[in-house]
Amino acid sequence: MSYAIVGFGKIGQALAHAFARKNIEVTVASRRPPEALTLQAGAIGPTVVAKSLRDALEADTIILAVPFGEHREVAKSLSNWEGKTVIDATNAFGVPPEALGGLVYSAFVAKAFTGAKVVKGFNHLVAAKLATDPIVEGGHRVVFLSSDDEDATAPVAALDKQLGFAPVKLGKLNEGGALVHARGRTWGQLIFQDLFKKEQ
Ligand SMILES: NC(=O)c1ccc[n+]([C@@H]2O[C@H](COP(=O)([O-])OP(=O)(O)OC[C@H]3O[C@@H](n4cnc5c(N)ncnc54)[C@H](OP(=O)(O)O)[C@@H]3O)[C@@H](O)[C@H]2O)c1
Repeated sequence: MSYAIVGFGKIGQALAHAFARKNIEVTVASRRPPEALTLQAGAIGPTVVAKSLRDALEADTIILAVPFGEHREVAKSLSNWEGKTVIDATNAFGVPPEALGGLVYSAFVAKAFTGAKVVKGFNHLVAAKLATDPIVEGGHRVVFLSSDDEDATAPVAALDKQLGFAPVKLGKLNEGGALVHARGRTWGQLIFQDLFKKEQ
């Protein structure tokens, strides 16, 4: 398996730390040329290598760590996403649900990456927390995974374990996955409230 992180801001760098901690090779890229990222990438660890966006997209598994509104630009960079797994770490916080045609936003993202297997993950932890060692007091920090592609979640869960996290599979994007999606200006909480009301 080969891995790339697209977006080398707060979340991209936090994830690069997770790869570096375990000496797993990962390519990082943004809109800037690789030379602009090389120093920062090297400071994280020798397994973190900056490449151009086009070269980074040669990886099998691509973690999307760009602002939600930029996902289409990334998707346009490849004409065919067949055979690729995209791990969507974005949060569409503040995007009105009506702008997403009734879809949870990762399903909206998946539509742009035609042919790719899309797994939602790594989006519920703030970057500062995600950057730290996920093995805490003998336990493993949880990451939630959801996907509409049944066979896509297992390899991502295996990667999470390699990185030291404890993956929790939530099922489909619009089912368990909805628990870790922003909806408008609310993140998760409103959905929990809805479930609670239904129980009463
Ligand atoms: N920050 C958090 O704690 C947190 C937590 C969970 C989830 N998230 C989600 O993670 C995503 C990234 O957040 P962030 O806080 O890391 O943002 P950020 O610090 O602003 O970083 C965004 C990165 O994306 C790159 N980028 C923007 N447009 C791009 C494009 N079209 N192609 C390639 N690279 C592009 C930017 O670099 P260039 O300008 O060089 O292209 C930058 O490296 C967002 O969707 C956010 O909601 C953030």
